Amino acid sequence: GLGIINIPVYIHIVYPNANSISDAQVNSQMATLNADFRDTNVDQLPSGTTFANDATDAGFSFSLAGVFRHNDPKSSWGTNDAVKAAYPPITPSTHMNIWVCEIGGGILGYAQFPGGKESTDGIVLGGDFFGNTGGVYGLGRTATHEVGHYLNLRHIWGDGRCRQDDFVADTPNADSSNGGCPTFPSTSCKSADMTMNYMDYTYDACMYMFTDGQRNRMRAIFQPGGARASMIN
Ligand code: ARG
Ligand code: ZN
Ligand code: CA
Repeated sequence: GLGIINIPVYIHIVYPNANSISDAQVNSQMATLNADFRDTNVDQLPSGTTFANDATDAGFSFSLAGVFRHNDPKSSWGTNDAVKAAYPPITPSTHMNIWVCEIGGGILGYAQFPGGKESTDGIVLGGDFFGNTGGVYGLGRTATHEVGHYLNLRHIWGDGRCRQDDFVADTPNADSSNGGCPTFPSTSCKSADMTMNYMDYTYDACMYMFTDGQRNRMRAIFQPGGARASMIN
């Protein structure tokens, strides 16, 4: 097998005062990614849900390879990859690039799926949702969710109605996203939604798991010929 797959990370901080995102904030984000993708996060599944045994160690670690701060007065970067054009990714075939900037429009973050253009490969996070910042999206799980997309995961509801698959067998179908912090069980199709999955839209404190199926889907792209195989050789 591939063992624990380590992903080296470059972080581009683009703000009027780029020092406003501190090294401590960066480190808190790295710690959350490492905990969530190894299933060592402390807010583990409470007993009493049918998913209590489904939380898995996805087998990824993340190492900080460099932080680049750019003072830039632009206050709203949008979701059209403009920040990536201004500050291009560094060796995206071997490193995950993260841009931290003001996206605007209430957007927490966005990601590119594997197999896309190298010039836009990576994830973008709003600084208010990067690392431990407080608030309902303040535990760094926007990054966990976006890295899930970067590693080929779809939303838990498949971005469609009950019959729309997310291409993962052990995540139940859901009719749409869940928000907030739902009381278990919250059922939109035939069985309880996995609202506590990182790939739903619930609050940071209320999402805390990937499944084996998601783990296998993420790791498949690192096999020979896979879309991110270049990262591990
Ligand atoms: N809406 C964003 C997306 O679809 C991120 C959602 C993150 N959710 C969270 N609890 N931090 O990519
Ligand atoms: Zn998403
Ligand atoms: Ca599924």
